[in-house]
Amino acid sequence: MGKHVVIGISGGIAAYKTMYLIRLFKKNGWEVRVTATQNALQFVTPLTIETLSQSKLYTDMFDVNRAMEVEHIALAEWADALVVAPATANIIGKFAHGIADDALSTLFLAVKKPVFIAPAMNSNMFENTVVQQNIGLLRERGCHILLPNEGFLACGTTGSGRMQEPEEIFEQVDEELSNDHSLQGKNVLITAGPTYEPIDPVRFIGNHSSGLMGFCLAEAATRKGAMVTLVTGPSNCAARHPNIRRVDVKTAEEMYQQCMQCVDEQDIIIMSAAVADYTPAHVAPEKIKKDFAQLSVELVKTKDILASVGKIKREGQLLIGFALETENEVENAKKKLHNKNADLIVLNSLRTAGAGFRTATNQVTIFARDGREFASELKSKREIAEEILQTAKIYIQ
Ligand code: CTP
Repeated sequence: MGKHVVIGISGGIAAYKTMYLIRLFKKNGWEVRVTATQNALQFVTPLTIETLSQSKLYTDMFDVNRAMEVEHIALAEWADALVVAPATANIIGKFAHGIADDALSTLFLAVKKPVFIAPAMNSNMFENTVVQQNIGLLRERGCHILLPNEGFLACGTTGSGRMQEPEEIFEQVDEELSNDHSLQGKNVLITAGPTYEPIDPVRFIGNHSSGLMGFCLAEAATRKGAMVTLVTGPSNCAARHPNIRRVDVKTAEEMYQQCMQCVDEQDIIIMSAAVADYTPAHVAPEKIKKDFAQLSVELVKTKDILASVGKIKREGQLLIGFALETENEVENAKKKLHNKNADLIVLNSLRTAGAGFRTATNQVTIFARDGREFASELKSKREIAEEILQTAKIYIQ
């Protein structure tokens, strides 16, 4: 039997995305019931909701044709989780202050199972003190707040307030309810993002890495109970979980220093950063002017962090590296596994459409020291992070 989720929809434009969320739960074998506020039904229709959820929409507390005795109580007992997406400032306010004047807010009071709240609103509203205080109250009472992303908002502005994507919401609910605490008590070090190697005060050598893969790994590890140190080069990604200690660095040398400082206490070390292999030998103290017909920048090798950790790795530590290849992929990846003394190497191919840099998806093959290979399909980086950790678990002592 699949797990049971009740999805609560309140009146925001992001309600259209909730239709995908319903489908995702169904696709993954969950049973779905939906409750929506009257305002939500300005954005999505009962027919869409009922067709996708394959169940009766629950909106009216006083429906004479109701299927269950006291519906909000029956629904609250039926549910394994309540997911409110989108959650408007209004419904958040009602939840925080115990106002129960419609089906969703009444259900909220009756639910004793995990509650997930995905706010979506204009960024000024989201930043408003009273909204923040209400969110704080709900968090203190144990609700999981799925903080909105930054981005383009339907009101035409850009900022924080954009509801998390259906996939992100689904995965957090699924993880939380899967009760996987397999990394409880473990320390995990993750490197992420690019490094910036300065040429002069305004220029640097960088690369296209966004850091997303590393951030997804950090989130996935904390959801399994780990304490994560995330050493990241410049990245716009946000680390949400309180058990992620984020250390921001710019250069390969800084990344190396930060990793070396804490490597000893780690159980799992995952190096997903795209570290520069070379750095300018000299950083010009002033901006280089265009006075030269030709200009060369002398480069020297950076320290290889993965290989350095491979050299000092102690019994019981699991070391995972990444390989990004454009040719002889498998052969090169296997070479890196041995040369750098890693336990696992995750190969992403730049040849696969949708994999690698600046994409939300990835496709990897994981090579283990014992010769085993684990190939994934093209999936979201969140799902790939999950697969990498599932493979890592096989090798943790
Ligand atoms: N890596 C590292 N420190 C470096 C360079 C790379 O820790 N100075 C790590 C990366 O984080 C990754 C792995 O080494 O986990 C492989 O990186 P990749 O760029 O594919 O390979 P390189 O070792 O740099 O070799 P090449 O560029 O010649 O393929």
